Amino acid sequence: MNRLDWSSRPGQPLHGSVRVPGDKSVSHRALMLAAIAEGDSRIRGFLEGEDTRATAAVLAQLGVHIETPSAGERVVHGVGLHGLRGSSQPLDCGNAGTGMRLLTGLLAGQAFDSKLIGDASLSKRPMRRVTDPLASMGARIDTHDGLPPLQVRGRQPLHGIRYELPVASAQVKSALLLAGLYAAGETEIIEPHPTRDYTERMLAAFGWPITFEPGRAKLEGGHSLRATDVDVPADFSSAAFFLVAASIVPGSELKLPAVGLNPRRTGLLQALRLMGADITIENPRESGGEPVGDLVVRYAPLHGIELPESLVPDMIDEFPALFIAAAVASGSTLIRGAAELRVKESDRIATMAVGLRTLGAAIEETPDGALIHGGKLGTGSVESHLDHRIAMSFAVAGLVAAGPVRINDCSHVATSFPGFLELVNGCGFALRTVA
Ligand code: S3P
Repeated sequence: MNRLDWSSRPGQPLHGSVRVPGDKSVSHRALMLAAIAEGDSRIRGFLEGEDTRATAAVLAQLGVHIETPSAGERVVHGVGLHGLRGSSQPLDCGNAGTGMRLLTGLLAGQAFDSKLIGDASLSKRPMRRVTDPLASMGARIDTHDGLPPLQVRGRQPLHGIRYELPVASAQVKSALLLAGLYAAGETEIIEPHPTRDYTERMLAAFGWPITFEPGRAKLEGGHSLRATDVDVPADFSSAAFFLVAASIVPGSELKLPAVGLNPRRTGLLQALRLMGADITIENPRESGGEPVGDLVVRYAPLHGIELPESLVPDMIDEFPALFIAAAVASGSTLIRGAAELRVKESDRIATMAVGLRTLGAAIEETPDGALIHGGKLGTGSVESHLDHRIAMSFAVAGLVAAGPVRINDCSHVATSFPGFLELVNGCGFALRTVA
């Protein structure tokens, strides 16, 4: 990937209607379930990001024919539960933790061996959280000291387990449910806090008997999946940057149409409202079994808060954006119970703290969060650490900084948000690539 640096500076008040790309979590899952279903599934609103394309490429390597009739659309010719074929080449998940962890669960029950690899960032992310419970289901997976690459051994008979997740993780839950499709007996997952339930909802939509409620899911092996069309909503996590940007730039008003509003994703909406943000939901409706709505956000002065810990899992990907809001709000914001941020695409507590301090913000890091004192941001040069959400968050910071904010190495933004630069400049940002 070529290195790409950005410079973000104050632009215009933000205006217009911004259509953000499709949901990453839903796009990954739609590909995987459609691949092992019987028949052809059409996915609309598919995220054309590098993460989800990597998953599509892996499935193609495993013998699944996937067509692209137009951008944002895939037709997946399902091969059935036992129709995947092994590949002698490593399966490259790129930057995608979701891709790698879910595929590990899917591949644990196959009749062939697989090797999963990832890029420099993914190669540092913990995998025992998935491989340990999979091992107790009978899987055999070798890691590199708990990290990728993963060597998944085929031909291992799996059996269901009842597993209480030690940390709230939709990726771990989903990996175990996917392995459970191939396991004898029941697989039951209990979460310490409910997480996004796309796998459960989508399994049901594809016709697999499953019972689930917030914090709990149960299925048994030995059924089959029926091809189903999937409408992917716009990604709330991508909308998040605009929610913060319009909240902090005086005179702004943005509309974000058809954004997915699954309650397990919208913690930032509540956090920003607690800080004084003016965000309304217009035209709430259902699309593809998911709640969606048009978000309208207008500038409003923000103040610091003590973030309720119960919101953390529902906004786990939105903290980089929240850190920027907190850094320019009046008063202080206290974040606790968010140690998971340390094992995302980068250590997001450290990366945000270092970057914000570079811009003159006062921020105290703690093991599981931060205390951020709001104030003015200055100019400076920050590192993305190969983390898409860090890069996009500092692009937002540049809107209200005293001078340009240079963000180093932004190429990974394409993993989740292709076209970010054009879209933000279209609504009033002044974001440029720099040599
Ligand atoms: C995801 C779950 C979350 C989230 C990630 C996507 C998913 O990860 O951070 O971006 O699609 O299941 P964890 O399961 O590690 O919390």
